[in-house]
Amino acid sequence: MIQVKNLSKQFGNFTAVNNISFEIKAGEVAGLLGPNGAGKTTTMRMLTGFYNPTGGSIQIDTLSMPANRQTIQKKIGYLPESASSYADMVVWDFLHFAADARGLSAEEKAKGLEKSIAATGISEYLYHPIHKLSKGYKQRVGLASALVHDPSILILDEPTSGLDPNQIAEIQNLIRELSKEKTIILSSHILSEVEAVADRVLIIARGELTYDKSIAELKNQSQTTTLAAFRNAPENLPDILRESLGLPERPQPQMRDGETLFRIAGDKETSHRIFRAAAERNLELTEVYRETESLETLFRSITGGNK
Ligand SMILES: Nc1ncnc2c1ncn2[C@@H]1O[C@H](COP(=O)(O)OP(=O)(O)OP(=O)(O)O)[C@@H](O)[C@H]1O
Ligand SMILES: [Mg+2]
Repeated sequence: MIQVKNLSKQFGNFTAVNNISFEIKAGEVAGLLGPNGAGKTTTMRMLTGFYNPTGGSIQIDTLSMPANRQTIQKKIGYLPESASSYADMVVWDFLHFAADARGLSAEEKAKGLEKSIAATGISEYLYHPIHKLSKGYKQRVGLASALVHDPSILILDEPTSGLDPNQIAEIQNLIRELSKEKTIILSSHILSEVEAVADRVLIIARGELTYDKSIAELKNQSQTTTLAAFRNAPENLPDILRESLGLPERPQPQMRDGETLFRIAGDKETSHRIFRAAAERNLELTEVYRETESLETLFRSITGGNK
């Protein structure tokens, strides 16, 4: 369980993270979503103990950071934003180095290496220099190094950034697989990437937490519009629709290819009523379809279009 209360970070006079609070339950996958410069990396660096907060508190499994930094760091695997800088090392040496840096015993190290190599699917590449690997595999190696001490919490800073669509899908599958055992916080500036793996989305914009809901709630919030097209529409059609659909105002018609088109907020029930109204009055209804606002559009409206 991760509890963050009124967390802030200032760099000189600049506030990078401003008084944010959230809780992440054990086993949850939370996506920290925000545009460039929002404060995602700064928040993650405070959670992982690389930065001391300027204000507020962080508790991880009832231990507070930074007072229990070393104990907490044993529970956390961190994949930083930029790919590993040990490009000249072969994968195997790099993972040993990561395990030694964690101070693991010989037994823990052997177990940890075996498990993290298997989990990330890199066993074929252990003797390759890191710089020769594809970006997707570099990211897997980074993940393996973050898993080597078998942490219960994973903090992944933009794990899919810079990857091609196939590599993104592979890393997302890997994250989904890891989420069966671990609590995960990952950051991204693309909502669909968060949606693909996370249960929760926390939106951060200009250092402030502006949204904190489950993905299911977020989806419910997206608007569905029903579009109906008529041929030879009578002049009083807006009045007919207003009445049949119980709308507060007459819907505005648009002309399209000689047809009259209406866009009306609403889901299934709206289309049923349109069909019924058309049948009762012998109207030439040519098309009815529904459009759901994409989550990206919703995200832009939540973050004020700053993307
Ligand atoms: N060490 C630092 N010193 C001064 N300012 C910093 C420092 N680290 C970050 N900042 C500033 O704090 C703000 C938040 O940065 P941060 O890296 O946390 O954003 P981010 O959400 O991770 O962005 P990105 O999507 O680009 O990675 C930015 O304006 C950044 O310039
Ligand atoms: Mg960042």
